[in-house]
Amino acid sequence: MSAPVHATPKTPPKTFHVKSFGCQMNVYDGERMAELMAADGLTATDDAAAADLVVLNTCHIREKATEKVYSDIGRLRKHAREQDRAAPMIAVAGCVAQAEGEEIVRRAKVDVVVGPQAYHHLPKLVADAAAGTPALDTDMPLASKFGALPARRRVGASAFLTVQEGCDKFCTYCVVPYTRGAEVSRPFDAIVEEARALVDAGAREITLLGQNVNAWNDADDRGLHGLIRALDRIPGLARIRYTTSHPNDMTQGLIDAHRDVAALMPFLHLPVQAGSDRVLRAMNRSHTRDSYLRLIDRIRAVCPDIALSGDFIVGFPGETEAEFAETIALVDAVGYAQAFSFKYSPRPGTPAATMEAQVGDAAMDDRLQRLQAALNRDQAAFNAATVGRRCTILIERRGKLPGQWLGKSPWLQSVHVIGDHAIGDMVEVDLTQAGPNSLTGRVTAPAAATAC
Ligand code: 5AD
Ligand code: SF4
Repeated sequence: MSAPVHATPKTPPKTFHVKSFGCQMNVYDGERMAELMAADGLTATDDAAAADLVVLNTCHIREKATEKVYSDIGRLRKHAREQDRAAPMIAVAGCVAQAEGEEIVRRAKVDVVVGPQAYHHLPKLVADAAAGTPALDTDMPLASKFGALPARRRVGASAFLTVQEGCDKFCTYCVVPYTRGAEVSRPFDAIVEEARALVDAGAREITLLGQNVNAWNDADDRGLHGLIRALDRIPGLARIRYTTSHPNDMTQGLIDAHRDVAALMPFLHLPVQAGSDRVLRAMNRSHTRDSYLRLIDRIRAVCPDIALSGDFIVGFPGETEAEFAETIALVDAVGYAQAFSFKYSPRPGTPAATMEAQVGDAAMDDRLQRLQAALNRDQAAFNAATVGRRCTILIERRGKLPGQWLGKSPWLQSVHVIGDHAIGDMVEVDLTQAGPNSLTGRVTAPAAATAC
C-alpha cells in the first residue's frame, strides 16, 4: 500500500543516521538501508541529533520496544527545537512501520513510513518527502528487495547475512508472522555471492540470519546444512554461525554439520519459551518439553561441546506458578550458556492478547527475576567451566584499556586480550579468568587460524 503522508516540502537531506532497535535482522536491514542512502549520495553521521534524516528501524515484538520509537521521535524534535534548527526528516522503518503505518502517521506525523519488505524504496520515498509528497510503503511484494540493494563494501570482522525471512509458525503471542510475512528463503546463489562480497569486504565470520533460519531451503532441497557446507568452501571465511532456529526445523543434517564443518561454531540459539506442555500448547509452539529435551540430547551426542542459548517468556496468559516451575526445571536440565528472557507482552492482533487469565505484572516481575537468577547462574557456570581451555578468538574491536582487544570465542563469549592485534585477527588464547559477561584470555601464539 502506498499512501500520501504529509505535504510540507523540505530541504533534501544531505546527512543521515540509521538507528536500529531489536533483533539482529534489524541490524542487518539497518546496514543495508545505510548502504542504500550512501549510494544515493547522502553522508552517514553517527550523531542522530545532527542528521538531516533519521531512519528509525523499529521493533514491534514487545510493547516497550514499540513505545521507544515514539519517545525517540519526541526527543529528536525537542533537541532540534532547543538547537534552533529545523526538525530532521524522520523515516520510520521496520516492524512498527509495518504494523502501525497509518497510526504512526496520525500519532507522530513522520515524513516516511517504510516496511521491512519495502526499504529498497527508501531513497525514492525520501525524495518524495523532500518534494512535499511523502509516502507510506508497507507493501510485501513477491519480488525480493535484495536484488535492488547495492553490493556490500565495508563490514567488520563479523557480519550478518539474511538468508531467510518471515515465519509460518504463528506462535500465539508473536507479531512476526504479521510484520515479516510468510517464510521465504533467499536463493542459494544470491547468498553465496553476498557471502563472498562480505569476505572481500573484510568479514571473517558470517552469521546467517532468519526468523526461522533453519527452515531455509531451496528447490534442490539443500537445506541450511547444504548452504553452510557451500559457504565453508569460501576462502577467507573462518567462521559460520546461524540464528534463530526453531526446534521443529532442526534436521539431522544440520546437527551433523556441527560435527563435520569445522568453521561452523559450536553455538546454537534454540528458543523453547516455556517448560510446561500446557503452556507450550497454548503458545502453539508445536513441540513439547520432552521433544525439546530429546532434541538437545541428540545435538549434544553429535557435538558435546556446543553452547546452548534460548529465549523464554514468563507470564504467558494462564501460566500458573506450578507451570512456571516447569520452566525453571527445564533450565536446570539444559544448562544454557546464555539466554534471553522476557515478560509476556500482549500484542494487538495476536490470539494470546485476548486470552483469559492474563498474568499480573507483579507475578511476572517475580517470575522473571527468578528465571534470570537461574539463567545468570548457568551462564556464570558455563563461563567458569571454559577457564583453562585453549581456543581461538576472532578480534572484533578495541577494548577500553590501552593495548586491549575484544574478541569472540567459538562459544560466542566476549574475551579480552592484551597484545598487538588488529580487527579480523584470529588469535589463539588460553582462557584465564571468567566474569558473568566476559572472559580474559592470554595469547599463546600469533594468528592461529583454526577454531577450538
Ligand atoms: N511478549 C514477550 N516476548 C515475546 N517474544 C516474542 N513475542 C513476545 C511477546 N508478545 C520473545 C520470544 C521470541 C523473542 C524474539 O521475543 O521469546 O523468541
Ligand atoms: Fe514468532 Fe514463533 Fe515465528 Fe519465532 S517461531 S518468529 S516466536 S511466531
